[in-house]
Amino acid sequence: MSETIQPKATIVIFGATGDLANRKLYPSIYRLYKSGKLDENFSVIGLARRGWNNDIIREKVEKSIQGLIPEDEDVSEFISHFYYKSFDVTSTDSYKDLKYMVESLEQDYHTDGNRLFYLAMAPDFFGTIANQLKNHGLKETSGWTRLVIEKPFGHDLASAKKLNKELQAAFDENQIYRIDHYLGKEMVQNIEVIRFANGIFEHLWNNRFINNIQVTSSETLGVEERAHYYDTSGATRDMIQNHMLQMVALLAMEPPINLSTEEIRSEKIKVLRALRTIKEEKVSEYFVRGQYGAGKINGQEVIGYQDEAEELKDSATETFVAGKLVIDNYRWAGVPFYIRTGKRMKEKSTKIVVEFKDIPMNLYYKKDDLRNPNLLVINIQPNEGITLHLNAKKTGNGNLTEPIQLAYHQDSESGINTPEAYEKLLYDSMLGDATNFTHWDEVALSWEFVDRILASWSNKKADFPNYESGSMGPKAANELLERDGFHWWPE
Ligand code: BG6
Repeated sequence: MSETIQPKATIVIFGATGDLANRKLYPSIYRLYKSGKLDENFSVIGLARRGWNNDIIREKVEKSIQGLIPEDEDVSEFISHFYYKSFDVTSTDSYKDLKYMVESLEQDYHTDGNRLFYLAMAPDFFGTIANQLKNHGLKETSGWTRLVIEKPFGHDLASAKKLNKELQAAFDENQIYRIDHYLGKEMVQNIEVIRFANGIFEHLWNNRFINNIQVTSSETLGVEERAHYYDTSGATRDMIQNHMLQMVALLAMEPPINLSTEEIRSEKIKVLRALRTIKEEKVSEYFVRGQYGAGKINGQEVIGYQDEAEELKDSATETFVAGKLVIDNYRWAGVPFYIRTGKRMKEKSTKIVVEFKDIPMNLYYKKDDLRNPNLLVINIQPNEGITLHLNAKKTGNGNLTEPIQLAYHQDSESGINTPEAYEKLLYDSMLGDATNFTHWDEVALSWEFVDRILASWSNKKADFPNYESGSMGPKAANELLERDGFHWWPE
């Protein structure tokens, strides 16, 4: 068995009082600590505007990991690694104090000068922070320095380019880790393994045997407390530009020549380059947008998007998107990739359905019978697993068939020990493994693709709301597939 590597580092979190730190980062650090992936050689410095102190952050961290602590466990040693500093990202004094603090904690915790700067806050200051870290010598250390950036990475291609330029003026590309938390999900990482470690799939993974591929990520939650951010973003920027296109890239890429970061990224980039450009006037043939109205979710009445906050009245922001992607390369010519995501839908679920072509002559089906094509379903969440839909003989006499499913549920194997996406990504960033982070070229190509769709929509008024909360989106999203002779597969 290989030994677990225990990286040593000072983790500096910008936005330490925020929701992400509280819900994801602190629990992830705790789980890494518990599983032996972090030993005593680490410290965490939380930074934010608020006037907290070390005692407060330790209290907050303890609260954030409540559900993970076994009864009677004393976490005082773990939380003693956390420190807090009230911070103004635009003040030079703040960075001077930070440098002093980092250097002294490095002495105390023997972290070999390794520094992870995690930007978990509103993106407006990403460029400023990167610059100031460099100017104040926070990159000058005997160890490594890395910058982890939360999404959104820009608002469109132009702003993403500007941000990237600012970051690259201070950090090298190989020091920048752009988070797409979907790439940390166990079953998203499993896509490559399912494809490249199984002869039975990879040989069929092309336009000769596959009819279409469907990727759905539906949510039951609405806009919650994020009305301001969400209304300037919408589902296309929030989910399509990053998570959905990343999953498509993993599904469609060619086998890399090895599993190195560079090779995998380069294959993903090729997929994004092969995405057919949709001309603005043709967008409505390929993409459908929606916004939720009132409805019922799990028996509960919920209000429509425009009633969620004062500022959302008459909003033209899309909370749902479905699209047909065409990948113009040898493997995928003629195979549509359908993607769909939205808020306030029927269920919280992310899954991929690969629909295989029928055999040339099916002896068991008469013309009018309902066909059951073979499906490979990759369940990303909430249940992690793989299901293969086959046809088998119906027990008894005769030649009747019935659909059966071979299912594997990952969560029943490894239970709650399945690492959280953020836990894996934090660990990878400390190990220096950038495979599951997005390279600038991927970000740029994805923006280029979605910018065109958004530009077309900005010229036409939408008739919103156009889907009921608790449904699977507007009818037009079904018609998108029906026009091609397909339909969305329910699980
Ligand atoms: C985030 C989006 O990136 O992903 C959110 O900003 C969305 O709006 C979330 O809810 C979905 O992530 P998950 O892991 O719950 O599917």
